[in-house]
Order: sequence, then structure tokens, then C-alpha cells
Amino acid sequence: MSDRIVSLHAPGRDVLPAYIRALEAGWSPNTMRNVAPEQLAAIAADPDAFLSGLIGRGGKIRLHDGSEVARLPDIIRWVIAVDQPERPFVGSINLRWQEDDAGRPVTDLPPHVLGHVGYTILPNHAGNGYASAALAAVLAEARAIGLPFLKITCDTRNLASRRIIEKNGGRFVESFVAPFYGPEERLMYRIDLES
Ligand SMILES: CC(C)(COP(=O)(O)OP(=O)(O)OC[C@H]1O[C@@H](n2cnc3c(N)ncnc32)[C@H](O)[C@@H]1OP(=O)(O)O)[C@@H](O)C(=O)NCCC(=O)NCCS
Repeated sequence: MSDRIVSLHAPGRDVLPAYIRALEAGWSPNTMRNVAPEQLAAIAADPDAFLSGLIGRGGKIRLHDGSEVARLPDIIRWVIAVDQPERPFVGSINLRWQEDDAGRPVTDLPPHVLGHVGYTILPNHAGNGYASAALAAVLAEARAIGLPFLKITCDTRNLASRRIIEKNGGRFVESFVAPFYGPEERLMYRIDLES
């Protein structure tokens, strides 16, 4: 599968106007919670601080129930479609992981983090292979970080996401319920990164 239809970019000023338009249209880079209003407010208050916050490490993350937890090490990438002449911003993908006391990556995740990777593609750009390609590109970043495998989860009914994960080598591990996020059944996949 080719990953050349997308290019992944660290959040930056160049793409920010398109990112703002997507938030204003109601898109949220977080699938568990609509973060568009708070991100628009943060950008309006101080765009450079907003971008630094996305790129930096540390701080807190607010969960859907309003509680705050320590932010894991993560990378956030904005997805640019390079198969279109205007190279539009089409979505976001992120990778988070834990580190041991020596700063080495470990594969365990805390209970409130359902998987290592999350992605959302703007509805008007769906169906073009962008999520599949973005996940393929992020696997390369995860390998470079030193993670031997990734856990990725999706809702049972999210057939598109299941297909995206399977196309990227995901092996079904188990179905489970995460009560903190509701009664829905979810599927856990594993993608091995070591060759
Ligand atoms: C799910 C989502 C990421 C898909 O993005 P996308 O860029 O359209 O995905 P892609 O085009 O790369 O691939 C979708 C695949 O699923 C398939 N698919 C789409 N809808 C499907 C359905 N209802 N049943 C089965 N397969 C489906 C497509 O045919 C494609 O597979 P193919 O390449 O073999 O044809 C996007 O719709 C989205 O952001 N949804 C909301 C957030 C979300 O669900 N994120 C994932 C959380 S785990």
C-alpha cells in the first residue's frame, strides 16, 4: 500500500488556517470528545502557544468526563493530501505511548487510553485512502521511536476503521468493553512493528 498520497506534518502556522476552518465546520481531531470549541478559543487567545502545546510534552489532558490526567508522550501529525494539486489539510493522526523511568518506550497503556493511535479524516475528504495512508506513515514513526508493536482499538460498528487497521497489518486480539467510555463493544487489534 502506498503512503505517498499523504504527507504528515507537525502542527504549524502554515496549515493552521485550514485547521481552523475544519474546527469551525464542526470537525474534532479527538474522536472521544468534541474539542473544537476549546481549541478554537485557545487559537484565538494565542495561536503560537496553541501550536507549542500540541508539539510539546507534558501538561494535562481533559477526558470526556471532565477529569484531567497527565498527558502521555505523543506526536500529533496533521495530514496533507499530496495527491491533490492544492494539497489540502484532510485530517489528523496521533500516536501516544508510555515510557519507563529511563525514558524508554513501553507498550503498556493506562486504562483511560484505549490505543496507541487515533485518527480522524474530514468528512468531505473521506473515502480516498487518506486514513489508511496516514496510519501507514505513523507506523514508521512508531518504529523509529522503538515501539515493538501498537495496540489500536475501534468500535465494532466502525467498519471503515477496522478495514484501515487490517490493511495496515492489524491482527484482531479481542473484543472488550471499556466502561469508562460507555457500554459499546470495542475491538482490540495489534500491529507488530519489528521485522
Ligand atoms: C473512519 C475514517 C478514519 C475513515 O477515513 P478514510 O480516509 O475515509 O479511510 P480510507 O479511505 O483510508 O479507508 C477506508 C476503508 O474502509 C472501507 N470502508 C468504508 N466504509 C466502509 C463500510 N461501511 N464497510 C466496510 N468497509 C468500509 C473503504 O472501502 C476503505 O477500504 P478499501 O481501501 O479497502 O476500499 C473517517 O471516516 C473518520 O475520521 N471517521 C470519524 C473518526 C473515526 O472513526 N476514527 C477512527 C477511530 S478508531
